[in-house]
Amino acid sequence: MTNTDLASCPTECFQSDVLAGLSQPQKRVPSKYFYDAAGSQLFDAITRLPEYYPTRTELGILRANAVAMAERCGPHCLLIELGAGSLNKVRWLLDRLDHPAAYVPVDVSEDYLVEAAAALVDDYPALNVIPLAADFTRRFQLPQLPAARRVVFFPGSTIGNFDPRQADLLLRRIARLVGLGGGCLLGIDLQKDTSVLEQAYNDSAGVTAAFNRNLLVRINRELGADFDPAAFRHCAFYNRKLSRIEMHLVSEIAQRVHLGRYVFDFRAGESIHTENSYKYDIGEFAGRAAACGIRFDNSWTDPRENFAVLWLTAN
Ligand SMILES: C[S@@+](CC[C@H](N)C(=O)[O-])C[C@H]1O[C@@H](n2cnc3c(N)ncnc32)[C@H](O)[C@@H]1O
Repeated sequence: MTNTDLASCPTECFQSDVLAGLSQPQKRVPSKYFYDAAGSQLFDAITRLPEYYPTRTELGILRANAVAMAERCGPHCLLIELGAGSLNKVRWLLDRLDHPAAYVPVDVSEDYLVEAAAALVDDYPALNVIPLAADFTRRFQLPQLPAARRVVFFPGSTIGNFDPRQADLLLRRIARLVGLGGGCLLGIDLQKDTSVLEQAYNDSAGVTAAFNRNLLVRINRELGADFDPAAFRHCAFYNRKLSRIEMHLVSEIAQRVHLGRYVFDFRAGESIHTENSYKYDIGEFAGRAAACGIRFDNSWTDPRENFAVLWLTAN
């Protein structure tokens, strides 16, 4: 059974976020709404694409350094994973951890979380798995948890989906969640060649485009809008000035979209900004984390320094 805290943000939150975002001069929708069950499956397919280097690179780093990471976590830790998704990466850590007190995967994609947690329980029958369906950008209630040293696992450079101010809020939230002396193992994607970055978000099979358009399919289904997803083109590019990949859905034609009693007009070429993925420099990120009460202690990278996993300690 999943613990759920999403009751505090039902469809009304989705609707008010979409209405507010589409009313901005640059139309936007928060990227967390990508992840209904279909969106989570599409994201999983993205992680297996040849162009999408982050997942296999981070997995390589975890595989190569799992012993050192598990040592940092310490015996009997309580492991909390934010944006847990498929629960694949954590297996490398679980295999090395010394009798973890419990594992708490947190994700906004409830059905997908339930399925992934059931598969994990089958493979780790001795592990106390406590899945929590919650939005980590909002205040969420943790269920009753064993008293133990807390470690947050936050892989996938999911923190890169947040602008610097929101990322700082998240880092402060993580520091509070683990408490003094608690740890955080956090994956960040690093700055690199524009062509490598742009290919990763513009795969030749069109899976990222389908993932992006699925947002409109979800808005139609759950909020009763009348978007024509085929009339929007996937667009992803690197904004070098802001060190971020931006994903947009670009209206191919001038068109009008209805959502309840609201009407949104699109000019041909006008976009909805659907995601950012910030690319970092380790030193700069460490400085930001320190200012948020969680100090940088160590990092592991791949030989090409494409991706890094950081160890942070709350102080
Ligand atoms: C980029 S994917 C990463 C998935 C996985 N951790 C990995 O490394 O492959 C982001 C994950 O975070 C979840 N997510 C995004 N925003 C969230 C939020 N505000 N609260 C909880 N989960 C969120 C999504 O459902 C998705 O599983």
